[in-house]
Amino acid sequence: MSKKYYLTTPLYYVNAAPHIGHAYTTVAADVLARFMRQRGKAVHFLTGTDEHGAKIEKVAQEAGASPQAYADEISAQFRELWSHLDVHYDDFIRTTEERHIDVVQRVFKALFDKGDIYKGSYEGFYCVSDETYWTKTEAPEDAKGRRLCPNPECRRPLETVQEDSYFFRLSRYQGKLLALYRDNPGFLMPSSRAPEILRFVEAGLQDISVSRTKVKWGIPVPGDEGHTIYVWFDALLNYVSAVSGDSGLLPELWPADVHIVGKEIYRFHAVIWPAMLMALGVQAPRRVFAHGWWTIEGEKMSKSRGNFIHPSQITKEFGIDAFRYFLLREMPFGNDGDFSRESMRKRYNAELANDLGNLVNRTVDMVDRFLGGELPTKENSVPLSFLKTDPNQIDEVLANSIEALGFSSALATIWSVIGELNAYINAEAPWKIAKTDPERTRQVLFGLVQALRRVAGWIEPFMPQTAAKIQSQLGVRRFPAPLSAEEVLAGASTGTGKIQKAPPLFPRKP
Ligand code: MSP
Repeated sequence: MSKKYYLTTPLYYVNAAPHIGHAYTTVAADVLARFMRQRGKAVHFLTGTDEHGAKIEKVAQEAGASPQAYADEISAQFRELWSHLDVHYDDFIRTTEERHIDVVQRVFKALFDKGDIYKGSYEGFYCVSDETYWTKTEAPEDAKGRRLCPNPECRRPLETVQEDSYFFRLSRYQGKLLALYRDNPGFLMPSSRAPEILRFVEAGLQDISVSRTKVKWGIPVPGDEGHTIYVWFDALLNYVSAVSGDSGLLPELWPADVHIVGKEIYRFHAVIWPAMLMALGVQAPRRVFAHGWWTIEGEKMSKSRGNFIHPSQITKEFGIDAFRYFLLREMPFGNDGDFSRESMRKRYNAELANDLGNLVNRTVDMVDRFLGGELPTKENSVPLSFLKTDPNQIDEVLANSIEALGFSSALATIWSVIGELNAYINAEAPWKIAKTDPERTRQVLFGLVQALRRVAGWIEPFMPQTAAKIQSQLGVRRFPAPLSAEEVLAGASTGTGKIQKAPPLFPRKP
């Protein structure tokens, strides 16, 4: 079987309800997955929930629930949200599943047996919120004698930890990691974030603690049940536990083509994870891509500010596709950005209601009025030479952008074509020549319909519902005489039926 395109999101913690940040990563992964499927690739898209560890143990206790019941509830909320947002994953893994626990314990034992995990004792500090260990040099006492989490986004008080612990020999992998980065320049993405990882690894790596005695809610260390396995060591292994069969990793899936993660967990994925794989003698993933963070109306999202936005608040007002569009259009994937209702509303009105929505509406209206609803077919199609760039070339530009996770620039490219089409309508003014020059009117409108069929194919990974609506208006019948995804992308139509008038795609928002 040939290799599938295997992509992943992080596994989300089940301590609290999903918010726009989680939606961001998952929608991006969904767009990439849909794009690959549309181009004929077999895809495996994995997401899921990270359910063990001190943080979940603590919130469940505060809520008076068992950690498992708590995890069940929140994990279900994630799945509901993905279905609401039209996210089509192929597998959803929970770290409390047997298939995962089994792999984690086997890996732990194998690394212990080969000496990559050893027993020692740990003295240092731990941030429960970030599930991260810190040393006393990394987290020095402040003026008030407190030790706070050095992560500037967190700054919560640290827990002092002094306990027996198992360690993973990360220090052994410095040279190999540097070789991995050097030999695979596409591994650390975006390249602007590579230097921070290089600097960190070049400075020398310490072995890391990978078990806790004080945390009960975790996978037991095989043969030493007083210890549970460190939640990150557990969770990272999902990327292989989810794609393992009876005789090991499935060759049609591994190595992963890309792990998409937020910038705050880049180190775990770009340093610890490949080192774990090296210790196991397993090939590294092809790419790890760290995207930026959203603030809300200029502020960091936090419990104390109470400004977490649940995606359904936005989709209720603007619709699902507009939300997906905004997330990926607002800033290049990799940069930080700010979400505000006003910026959402502005883009919605300008780019969706006006540029795209009006264009479709005007075209459909004129085809109905001036051509009696007749649509171009393969036989009577017109050349699209009025476009500055050949659509097949645009197609390649888009493929290059999206393969590099350049979602925003891909959308900008599509919108430049939309802009040209709007200018073309205005310049040709079919409503003025409809009576005097019916042949020219037909040419212009056919050209617009054909170009819009291409546009619908291009926006499909981003806005699947909108693409389907445009396609049905423009006679791109996928059922019952289905066109393949590639034919639709190439602007084909079944040539049946007439134009279908429909309400505006994106009614303007005040
Ligand atoms: N459980 C770990 C990941 C383990 S992966 C083996 C974790 N979970 S999390 O629930 O905190 O989710 C983190 C991810 O959510 C980030 O990597 C990012 O994908 C997304 N985001 C959370 N807040 C975000 C923003 N404010 N902005 C953008 N994305 C953010 O870390």
